[in-house]
Amino acid sequence: MQPNLHYPLSPIPYTPPRHVAIIMDGNGRWAKSRGLPRTAGHKKGADTLRSTLNACRDAGVKYLTIYAFSSENWKRPSDEISDLMQLLRHYLQKELDTLHENKVRLRFIGDLSQLDKDIRASIDDAMEMTARNGAFNLTVALSYGSRQEIVRAVRRIVEKGVAASDITEETLAEALDTAELPEPDLLIRTGGEQRLSNFLLWQAAYTEFYFTDILWPDFDTKHFTEALQDYAGRERRYGTTGEE
Ligand code: FPP
Repeated sequence: MQPNLHYPLSPIPYTPPRHVAIIMDGNGRWAKSRGLPRTAGHKKGADTLRSTLNACRDAGVKYLTIYAFSSENWKRPSDEISDLMQLLRHYLQKELDTLHENKVRLRFIGDLSQLDKDIRASIDDAMEMTARNGAFNLTVALSYGSRQEIVRAVRRIVEKGVAASDITEETLAEALDTAELPEPDLLIRTGGEQRLSNFLLWQAAYTEFYFTDILWPDFDTKHFTEALQDYAGRERRYGTTGEE
């Protein structure tokens, strides 16, 4: 039976996922269907991110990790890349104080060396400014690819001179960009595709997936609550039979 949910009018009567990861897909199609430039979809997508962050906090989710720009996204037309970077600059400037006031810790994962210097500096400042916040954790995957992240982790381990026989799953997990984060409990992908697209491959070993056709700019609090509701009905067995 589905739990009785009346979000947001009454408290959610189940344990929410601690960590939600989202592939925010469908901005381009949302814009195209309205005869707008793709950037308009990304802008609306940034609004959706704001409302989703609030919905996470209301629901008791503690970690939100978003796939904002993949390592493959560098192959997009340069106009679109610079528009996305501009949006990021704007977002960092405009939202940072509010995030900080709300005790949100902001992290960025990915190959940040590829970003423009000014963006890297803003990212460093934002991470430093919010480093002691503990109410909520927003992690932005930027210039991120999970395979590249795993390669970076292996390099870090080798550079530290760890003996092959000492390498465990923990060694690798602790060398990943996500070392400080718990594994995601729920991964949502909007926009109709049903794949991971090089996002959190290692971390999502036991994550529950939720795919929806809703395009990211249209994904509102009601849709998010439906995803949480769906998650609440899942039985997580982590590869066991689920019996004591
Ligand atoms: C995928 O839609 C979305 C992106 C590549 C960018 C996501 C970025 C935002 C939502 C902006 C807010 C984030 C920050 C950090 C400022 P798509 O363009 O692949 O859509 P399509 O599949 O319909 O073409």
